[in-house]
Amino acid sequence: MAALEPRLSPTFLLLLTFLALPSQPMISGPVDRVDAGALATFNCLACKFPSRDITVTWTKNRNRIEALPTTIAKYDTTYCVTSTAQLPLTEKDINSRLTCHINDSSSEKPLQQSYDLRDVLRVAPHVTVETSLSSLIPLNRSVRLTCVVNNFYPNDIVVMWMTRDKVIKSANYGTPNQDGSFSLNLTFNRTKSEPSKYTYTCGVRHNSQSTVYVERLLNFGMQPKENGNICFIESGLFLLSNPGLWIGFLLGKIVTALLLFYLFLRKSASRIAGLRKPASRNASTEEQRGLAE
Ligand SMILES: *[C@@H]1O[C@H](CO)[C@@H](O)[C@H](O)[C@H]1NC(C)=O
Ligand SMILES: *[C@@H]1O[C@H](CO)[C@@H](O)[C@H](O)[C@H]1NC(C)=O
Ligand SMILES: *[C@@H]1O[C@H](CO)[C@@H](O)[C@H](O)[C@H]1NC(C)=O
Ligand SMILES: *[C@@H]1O[C@H](CO)[C@@H](O)[C@H](O)[C@H]1NC(C)=O
Repeated sequence: MAALEPRLSPTFLLLLTFLALPSQPMISGPVDRVDAGALATFNCLACKFPSRDITVTWTKNRNRIEALPTTIAKYDTTYCVTSTAQLPLTEKDINSRLTCHINDSSSEKPLQQSYDLRDVLRVAPHVTVETSLSSLIPLNRSVRLTCVVNNFYPNDIVVMWMTRDKVIKSANYGTPNQDGSFSLNLTFNRTKSEPSKYTYTCGVRHNSQSTVYVERLLNFGMQPKENGNICFIESGLFLLSNPGLWIGFLLGKIVTALLLFYLFLRKSASRIAGLRKPASRNASTEEQRGLAE
């Protein structure tokens, strides 16, 4: 505008100045989307005011917010005003509206312009994985895996289930929630007839940001070896209700008792002989440990 004015004749310019009303304010926001929790900067600009007597106020959802000091600059015979407001965006701002109000002596009603914060807001999804069965899946039973992707904005997302670098399934759009955000569940079923272990990975890429991965290891029909004792305790009830295992369990106890009795006899014998007492005690505890394993 300043660059154009010198080409116009002074009389025409004077006429323009008298006729022209102050311009409608313009709000400019961040160029890229801003994550919930970060600060965003907005500028409000309006021109052609006849005097310096201009005040700018900002509101978010009708609540007054603080702004930086207003700048007023003269262009030929009129004035332009610029005001800057900085505010942190939150997940609840999907439906928030920022408004710049400009009051000057020439206008009866304040001029105003609004800006929907959803146009610059990005709310990252919350990603979890759910399975219909715990990590040990019986053979030939179907297990359902769900990647739960909650409360994201905008609705610009890629969700995919993968295993061993192969894509099983993918989806692109969520369904709207009441607060204006979006959610998506991506589900698939798996059944295995052979004992095997698979790691399933849910990858989520939202609004071109870096991809988030959530993994889940499933054991199909394989007892994890390292946790043998824990499985033994968990299957305690099953053990008591199964006669075959009961008998095996009792037989094991009897064998252990006989061995301990044998060790006791040997220990007593060596005590009687009064030989290598501490060494024989160590030997017996080691053997007991060996039995327990
Ligand atoms: C605008 O300014 C006038 C006088 O300067 C004042 O009476 C009026 O209350 C102001 N309006 C608003 C909305 O600030
Ligand atoms: C996704 O699944 C969760 C629990 O499994 C459920 O609470 C939620 O409503 C589902 N969301 C959608 C969009 O289906
Ligand atoms: C997964 O299995 C359940 C029943 O267990 C069925 O209702 C559902 O439609 C299946 N889903 C898919 C994606 O195949
Ligand atoms: C699972 O199904 C396969 C083929 O349908 C069958 O050969 C196998 O015996 C089944 N295994 C179990 C543990 O039921």
